[in-house]
Amino acid sequence: MARLFFAIVPPPAVSELLDDVCEGLSDVDWTDAADFHLTLAFLGEVSERHLQDLVDVGRTVRTPSFRLELESVGVFSSRGRPRVLWAGVRKEEKLLALQRVLSRELRQAGFELEQRKFHPHLTLGRPDDCPADEISDWLGRHLSLRAGPFGVFEFRLISSQRPGHGPRYVTLERFPLGV
Ligand code: 2AM
Repeated sequence: MARLFFAIVPPPAVSELLDDVCEGLSDVDWTDAADFHLTLAFLGEVSERHLQDLVDVGRTVRTPSFRLELESVGVFSSRGRPRVLWAGVRKEEKLLALQRVLSRELRQAGFELEQRKFHPHLTLGRPDDCPADEISDWLGRHLSLRAGPFGVFEFRLISSQRPGHGPRYVTLERFPLGV
């Protein structure tokens, strides 16, 4: 079994900018600069024998390439606790089309996806036990974050490895977008 997801990986210059924002909070598990990504579809644990099916689905998706701009930061909370600190993404119809078509093709191929609405973001860190006022200050400091625009010419199938087993995220396959 492998824990798999499809995502867009930003170019190194953008990851460097994002990395600068990952600072100043106690008890946050910050994302490594090499690991920033925008999840398009999360599959969870998938048996190795379905890997080729996923690659086949990825290859059928040929929505156009596009430009993406990151803006501002935010927080996802659940049960009253901050869970994810993220960088936001400026609305881009071609990104939404890519996510929609990929999800549709995955479902048609028999893969189960969550029904929750797509909120495009890049996870910067996951608070562990960080005080709320520290997080408010951090949000205030970085609301003006801007990165890009940068060209998105491909998306990837990525495997999330267990901690202590080498790199956290490993790209299994890249899928070019159309022109
Ligand atoms: P994220 O997109 O908010 O960072 C690998 O775990 C990636 O898939 C992470 O980027 C993660 O969250 C995303 N993901 C989406 N839905 C998930 C879920 N139900 N469980 C774990 N990760 C999920």
